[in-house]
Amino acid sequence: MKVSVIGIGHVGLVTAACMAEWGHDVIGFDNDPAKITSVENRQVPFHEPGLRDLVLTGVDAGRITVTGDPSVALDDRDVVFICVGTPKGKDGAPNLTYVQAAAAMVATHATKPTVVAEKSTVPVQTGERIKQALGLQAKSTGGSTQHAVVSNPEFLREGSAVQDTLFPDRVVVGADGEAPHRIMRELYQPLLDGHDCPYVATDVKTAELIKHASNAFLATKISFINAVARVCEMTGADVHTVADAMGHDARIGRAFLNAGLGYGGSCFPKDVEAFIHIAADLGYDFGLLRETERINREAKLWPVVQLRRLLWNIGDKEVAVLGLAFKPHTDDIREAPALEVIESLIEEGTQVRLHDPVALPQVADRWGDKVRLCETAEEAVRGAHAVVTCTEWPEYAEITAPQLAEWLEFPVVVDARNVWDPEGLVAVGIQLASVGRRMP
Ligand code: UGA
Repeated sequence: MKVSVIGIGHVGLVTAACMAEWGHDVIGFDNDPAKITSVENRQVPFHEPGLRDLVLTGVDAGRITVTGDPSVALDDRDVVFICVGTPKGKDGAPNLTYVQAAAAMVATHATKPTVVAEKSTVPVQTGERIKQALGLQAKSTGGSTQHAVVSNPEFLREGSAVQDTLFPDRVVVGADGEAPHRIMRELYQPLLDGHDCPYVATDVKTAELIKHASNAFLATKISFINAVARVCEMTGADVHTVADAMGHDARIGRAFLNAGLGYGGSCFPKDVEAFIHIAADLGYDFGLLRETERINREAKLWPVVQLRRLLWNIGDKEVAVLGLAFKPHTDDIREAPALEVIESLIEEGTQVRLHDPVALPQVADRWGDKVRLCETAEEAVRGAHAVVTCTEWPEYAEITAPQLAEWLEFPVVVDARNVWDPEGLVAVGIQLASVGRRMP
């Protein structure tokens, strides 16, 4: 089928590459020339494991092209995905201007009636707004009024986006009418032929809600285990064992029960806030989610509280921060908890040494000489008075307890991602703060 993807960021480019993998003819559009040039130069504009190879496979097979020209992007397309950003707007409500602009672009340039699929995370009822925008623009430009609007939320995680899209847990499509459902089913058939997963066909509003409800639930799961971690710290119980045992119950599941310094990224913080806002607009006070947010805000402060406990004054100390990205396997630092930790330290006057295997270029000129950017974890830790882990990159787990003890000036570790086993660290004389872990 002939597919267009408007917006080739984290979601759009992965969508484009996977659609091409399933044999579709895909055009990626973006109004950021840097993103277009990057793909034309056989690169991808951000770090995402496996994505470059998949994009290049599609490009070399002639199934993916990219363009900044809307009339090229929307020529003779069966399905057009809207994958533009929905940044946080005023009062936590998502800013949907880019979605509206994408709809207007379809209405103006599409050369035939098409299925407009919203993939950007949007509030319930946005489908109706898209339909309205398509109609208004068509009247003004004389374009088709026959486009259908469907909601097709994505559930990919950064860092494993390609795997999550090629082998999803479910495909959700919301459409009002049989014809768009038929087209979307045909689009996903190559995926469904090779991978056994539920295909949830529903109406547009339900599909929109599935996305917000899923993200809000996962964020709440994280805040729940972080709250349990606080109680573990007060009682000497072990949150890791609690989470494992809870996870054995199939009704609960172990995933997303890793206590740490809170959720970050471009999705959970924004989506939880947006969901609270949407519900309030509709007349419902989603207090549970406000509490999820409060616990998350507290979790991000935990490392600095622990540093003060273990070091007393921290303004005259040097602290190594390991990990900047909001999670491993990405260079994305949007709403990364590490940013809050680093900025609190800078405010105290603490000298920071920062390491991250891929995300450092994102902060090249951000903090001047207050933060030393280090090429290796060892460079950051050697001679520091303490180390804080903010992202659980696998390479940090390989640093041994004796190495930490040797490298550090003071034997102080604040393991905000529970990267290391407490027993090993305590055995070599390290004073350790772990999130909710039982101390030996
Ligand atoms: C999230 C969802 O997991 C995806 O299903 C969804 O498609 C995506 O948002 C989106 O809406 O686009 P993502 O933000 O890429 O994906 O990353 P996650 O793996 O969900 O992690 C989010 C944050 O939660 C990270 O900061 C991570 O460190 C934190 N987290 C995750 C924990 O603190 N504990 C956990 O047990 C799991």
